[in-house]
Amino acid sequence: MARNIMSCETVALDDERGALLIIDQTKLPGRVEVLSISEREEIHRAISSLQVRGAPAIGVAAAFGAYLTARAIQSDDYGSFYEKFKESCDYLASSRPTAVNLFWALNRMERVVSGSECLPVGEIKVLLRDEAIRIRDEDAEVCRAIGEYGLSLVRDGDGIMTHCNAGQLATAKYGTALAPIHLGRERGFGFRVYACETRPLLQGARLTALELMDDGVDTTLICDNMVSSVMKRGWVQSVLVGCDRVAANGDACNKIGTSGLAIMAYHYGIPFYVCAPTSTVDMDARDGGDIRIEERPPEEVTELWYAERMAPPGVKVYNPAFDVTERDLITAIVTEHGIVRPPYSKGLAEILE
Ligand code: MRU
Repeated sequence: MARNIMSCETVALDDERGALLIIDQTKLPGRVEVLSISEREEIHRAISSLQVRGAPAIGVAAAFGAYLTARAIQSDDYGSFYEKFKESCDYLASSRPTAVNLFWALNRMERVVSGSECLPVGEIKVLLRDEAIRIRDEDAEVCRAIGEYGLSLVRDGDGIMTHCNAGQLATAKYGTALAPIHLGRERGFGFRVYACETRPLLQGARLTALELMDDGVDTTLICDNMVSSVMKRGWVQSVLVGCDRVAANGDACNKIGTSGLAIMAYHYGIPFYVCAPTSTVDMDARDGGDIRIEERPPEEVTELWYAERMAPPGVKVYNPAFDVTERDLITAIVTEHGIVRPPYSKGLAEILE
């Protein structure tokens, strides 16, 4: 029998073998394959190729990656250890540009080293392992709390639309936008979830549909261009999406297509909720314009998931992986510390305190 994806750990540490274990998400839903990787180049590739993806999961993978690369550093001299460690962290940070959790997690790891100058290198490595495990464990707790707050915004029987995958596969456990759905299911709520397929990499079709169905949730997959039609029929009572970076003013950057969904939800008067841990809030980004949007290879649009290429050779392709939803379109931002409503500049600053 196929393994239930909800019983698999998205990201884990095999400390004995010195390896990072991840479910290879590029193989889902067809195969549940667990990759065991140790070299920083492999970890970089796993993140950039979306074998592990979703903002919080990227942060957890990078934290374990930072620990594993630290573990392999031979030097006992603090200065040279720190230099090599920093160089590895900078390298891992170059794997993807948009999700702030990547930089947030690596900064946390780096602070462990910068604050331990008087300790032997061996002890610093232990502290790094503990910090990476803490980042993973905290993420599961944070997601559960987001789930509780999110659940207070929806009702039994609601139709909920979501985009991309902001579920357990994107985090240590539960997910962000899918956490209220998983918690609701645990408590006997009967939601109807509409998962947008999420072109071009189909995280909605491949991952969200699998995750929700394995959890026993009533799931309907739609193409991204069917959103308006489904909303118009009155089948959707709220939209829940995840987020890669929330700017200080409340603009939210998430998977490409999210802003279109928000515009349509606004048109039809459907509440639009962004679910994001506070580690996703970047107070250094004043607004969405300060967020770097990843652009990915054209082949993802023209041929990646097709048996045959679907576009004429040489066609120009624009393939941004994310877009920014302006704060005016967001009904509320659901964090682990509570629900933030407009004005976001004030609410986010308060919640971060
Ligand atoms: O390119 P991806 O698959 O990493 O994009 C993921 C998303 O856009 C998610 O919605 C976001 O990271 C939040 S995950 C809890």
